[in-house]
Amino acid sequence: MRLVVLASGNGSNLQSILDACTAGRLDAEVAAVVSDRPLAGALRRAHRSGVPTEIIAPIDDETRRTYDIRLAEAVRHHRPDLVVLAGWMRILSSSFLDGFPDRVINLHPALPGEYPGIRAIERAFQDAQRGARSHTGVMVHLVPDEGVDDGPVIAVEKVPIDPSDTVDTLTERIHEVEHRLLVDAIAAWTLEHSSDTDPTRPRTEPT
Ligand code: GRF
Repeated sequence: MRLVVLASGNGSNLQSILDACTAGRLDAEVAAVVSDRPLAGALRRAHRSGVPTEIIAPIDDETRRTYDIRLAEAVRHHRPDLVVLAGWMRILSSSFLDGFPDRVINLHPALPGEYPGIRAIERAFQDAQRGARSHTGVMVHLVPDEGVDDGPVIAVEKVPIDPSDTVDTLTERIHEVEHRLLVDAIAAWTLEHSSDTDPTRPRTEPT
């Protein structure tokens, strides 16, 4: 199973994927890491692991669709079975998604339908501070369309917000859950789709 990971930031979730591949907990390889930000920590992590990288930085005045066409070309070049958005900070349009139907998954630090977009952890924390909630969560979902942090859920886990939490302690706990849940979700997806890539494995015929 060939994974292409799209990451804009630090890349701790990419690291959990790389570690799981090395340890044999994921039957997959990271074929490439693509970033929109030349200084992304994710690129350094990929280099350390000997994984090819691509920087597809947005060009001034470029439309989202034009960017997404360039991005799709770069990703397609690495022949992914699955595209993993691990801290990818751009909304993808159909110009990208149509090239990888049912093969793009996203990690979001909130429960389904809650806090789409940026600063999801901080917003949940603020709501907890004013007594409006006592938990948040993490989800991994398919990205079928341009909806933000929305799509069929592959894995989900609730994370309690403790009265003693600060935004930093909550963020740390969420990241711990993310690192585990993302690997679990990729493993589940891989298992479900292994017959798509392994010609020796018999396909289940409809009865
Ligand atoms: C994660 O919290 C992810 O859910 C969010 O951005 C963060 C990326 O962290 N979309 P990292 O770059 O993987 O460390």
